[in-house]
Amino acid sequence: MKKVGVLTGGGDCPGLNPAIRGICRQAQSTGHTVVGIRRGWKGLLEQETKDLNIAEIDELLYQGGTALRSSRTNPYNEEGGPERAKKAIQDLGLEALIAIGGEDTLGVASKLAAEGQPVVGLAKTIDNDLDVTDFTLGFPSAVEIATQAFDRIKTTAQSHDRVMVVEVMGRHAGWLTYYAGLAGGADAILLPEFPMPIQEVCDILKKLEARGKEYAIIAVAEGAKVLDDQGKEIAIHSKEAVDSFGHVQLGGIGDFVKELLKNRTGRDVRSTVLGHTQRGGSPSAFDRILSTAYGVRAMQLVQNKEYGKMPALVGGKIETVSLANAVEKLKLVPKEAYELARTFFG
Ligand code: F6P
Repeated sequence: MKKVGVLTGGGDCPGLNPAIRGICRQAQSTGHTVVGIRRGWKGLLEQETKDLNIAEIDELLYQGGTALRSSRTNPYNEEGGPERAKKAIQDLGLEALIAIGGEDTLGVASKLAAEGQPVVGLAKTIDNDLDVTDFTLGFPSAVEIATQAFDRIKTTAQSHDRVMVVEVMGRHAGWLTYYAGLAGGADAILLPEFPMPIQEVCDILKKLEARGKEYAIIAVAEGAKVLDDQGKEIAIHSKEAVDSFGHVQLGGIGDFVKELLKNRTGRDVRSTVLGHTQRGGSPSAFDRILSTAYGVRAMQLVQNKEYGKMPALVGGKIETVSLANAVEKLKLVPKEAYELARTFFG
């Protein structure tokens, strides 16, 4: 059996396609064929496959999204899901399966590997919240996209002396907002990791005005925690709309902060949601290289039968780490990093 399956699960991002290309090219060295599994774990359960031909693979380096499509299906939340997944691996004649995804997809991969399945992982997510790796693929491109958006918002903010609130993705980790906010010169950065009283943001605006800066950019992570005057978190997300992995759908905090700032300061405030533009388009140069290296190493892990593992960037080197460690806890923005950003608040 020299057949390897590859799937992409969770939210798409730039870098998935170059990673698939890396896997396919490395597979050639040992005569393995690679078969695509469509739509993440859903496609595995339904045994929905896609052939990957070499002419098509060459083009993947430049392409955003995922040629294999994606879904947020959790086999451990489906009737007989894990058994169906194991049966599919057998029925499709796969020597191994490479699962490309974030904490959810890799959490499933880790469980299947722990149950004896020949599964290898590959870390992607614009949230960059996987532990034991410096960067997940997709994050570098998303930082570029969001930073460009901040640059554009700055010139219009400046022209109108406005306060611009910019909502950035990232779920429960503030990495993307932190990096883009820092690179884009944000005057305040609100993250899930460091709850901030809304009054503190108003004080920052006052400070900026006092030193003659008439516009302001406030970066707000979609999962940021904003506190009222009593120090209580202001709840804005509905706990009802959850996906198959139990995640609440985030979004809307930018508008919410905009209203609070407007009411408290009387300033001209606007909000922008960067949304899915952050996940779209062609991968950045760094992402193409990272994804390629991850893809090649993931296939090498298969060739060496090192299951339950994934490639990781650790201190500038591609290392091999255990999937169980990678998904054990979310990697969050540390205090010392946030302190650096705080130097530029107000
Ligand atoms: O996990 C990646 C991510 O883009 C998060 O930052 C965001 O909260 C979520 O996916 C959005 O998911 P969807 O594409 O399902 O709206």
